[in-house]
This record gives sequence, C-alpha cells and structure tokens, in this order.
Amino acid sequence: MPRFWVKAPALTAKAFFGEDDGHGHESDGHGDHENYDQTTLRRAIVDGIDPAGEPLDEAMPRWSMSEADLNDLITYLQQ
Ligand code: HEM
Repeated sequence: MPRFWVKAPALTAKAFFGEDDGHGHESDGHGDHENYDQTTLRRAIVDGIDPAGEPLDEAMPRWSMSEADLNDLITYLQQ
C-alpha cells in the first residue's frame, strides 16, 4: 500500500557520508544514526537496514539488482 505520509530523505552524498560531525542528520530526515559507508549503504538499499542495524520504514523499497548495477549506483550516490 502506498504510504503517502512518509517522506523519503534526500539521497545526497552529504546526507549519506556527511562532512560535519559524522553523526546522523535528524533535521533532513536521515534519522539519528552514524553516516553511511559503502558497506552500510549497500545493506540499506538491498536489505533496508540503517547503519545502526534498524530496519528502514517499509515505504523504502528493498531493491534487487545486479552486482554491477549496485556498484554503479553506490559510485553515483557518492558523487
Ligand atoms: C534506487 C533508488 C533508491 C535508493 C538508492 C534509496 C536509498 C535510501 C537510503 C540509503 C535510505 C536510508 C536513509 C537514511 O538512513 O537516512 C532511504 C530511505 C528511505 N527511502 Fe529510499 N532509496 C531509493 C528509492 C526510494 C523510493 C522509490 C522510495 C519511495 C517510493 C523511497 C523511500 C524511502 C523512505 C520513505 C525512506 C525513509 C525510511 C526511514 O526513515 O525509515 N526510496 N532510501
């Protein structure tokens, strides 16, 4: 069922990997967890688990894609 009331956070390199305190960015919708690295970002996309080990809201799809596509996506999201 669509979950129109849940807001998806911005998928920016700054929000994921941070340039400030290395902690969460609650104000931009990115929860109060540690920044992502390549391993945790992969886990969030595929398994829907954040860096703290907590499941993301079910509004966030769990993505199934080839290894090559996933590598390309993560490279893109880091830019
Ligand atoms: C390939 C495309 C996408 C990627 C790479 C992606 C990646 C992510 C990541 C890494 C997070 C975690 C953010 C965090 O922990 O701060 C997230 C959260 C979320 N995403 Fe996506 N996402 C994608 C597409 C979508 C789409 C299409 C939707 C909605 C239809 C969506 C809805 C959400 C929502 C609602 C959250 C927040 C979940 C929560 O806070 O528990 N995402 N997304």
